[in-house]
Amino acid sequence: MLTFENIGKQFPDGTVALEGVNLHVPKGQFCVVLGPSGAGKSTLLRTVNGLVEPTNGAIAVGGVPVTRKTLPAIRPRIGMIHQQFNLVLRASVGVNVLAGALPAVSNWRALLMLFPKHLREKACGLVDEVGLQAEHLHRRASDLSGGQQQRVGIARAFILDPSVVLADEPVASLDPKISRDILALLKAESRERNATVLCSLHQIDLARHFADRIVALRNGRVAFDGLPDDFDEGVASDIYGDSISGSLIKATPRQRAVA
Ligand SMILES: Nc1ncnc2c1ncn2[C@@H]1O[C@H](COP(=O)(O)OP(=O)(O)OP(=O)(O)O)[C@@H](O)[C@H]1O
Ligand SMILES: [Mg+2]
Repeated sequence: MLTFENIGKQFPDGTVALEGVNLHVPKGQFCVVLGPSGAGKSTLLRTVNGLVEPTNGAIAVGGVPVTRKTLPAIRPRIGMIHQQFNLVLRASVGVNVLAGALPAVSNWRALLMLFPKHLREKACGLVDEVGLQAEHLHRRASDLSGGQQQRVGIARAFILDPSVVLADEPVASLDPKISRDILALLKAESRERNATVLCSLHQIDLARHFADRIVALRNGRVAFDGLPDDFDEGVASDIYGDSISGSLIKATPRQRAVA
């Protein structure tokens, strides 16, 4: 369970990125965050693992308030998946998956990248689970396709059995078919572990297909919070502006830009 209570964020330059955000995300929910560029999606996600400190309000993960003091204990329970995968490209797939376990190992082990046997075994199991083959384990991450790299990103995010997974535009760099495969995988992995997911997306059609719930931000405020079926064209045009039309509801911003 993840709660945001009256969250606000004003950056030092005066930009107000979030204002009065109240959300209660129940355990195991796949919650998609939509909203135009600059609406505050990444900022919201980053407040959960302390990458952004809210200016006001309170966040709790599993009932534990997120504070500077509690963060070291909370971080290992939060997995993160990035738009650009954020893998160490020169390192092997296995090492990249194990890197997700760094918050749970001692400093000297982290320094030497020495992981206990149970974590190495878990990494092997996860590589298989996310649809990669055993021979991928020793391959450099740079030798994988984008979709395969994001599979590694998902395995890395789940290695510590997180209670919360933050996915910031996890499919923005992938083509539509691979995007669906990756979101289906993310949903299946989180379902299996009853992990709560906060996933920002630009594609409304994918949000409607995969989300248990959609939260849309506009100018840092919650402008929609409801079921995917209720996020219709009217709601979309309220949030994204009148430029969005029925035919565009299926297109990604990048596809629109090209069209
Ligand atoms: N470190 C920062 N300093 C100042 N302003 C920032 C900082 N990070 C984000 N912002 C601003 O906060 C607002 C929200 O940004 P955020 O990155 O959360 O939006 P977003 O919804 O994730 O956008 P996108 O869809 O483009 O990723 C924007 O106006 C952005 O310019
Ligand atoms: Mg963003």
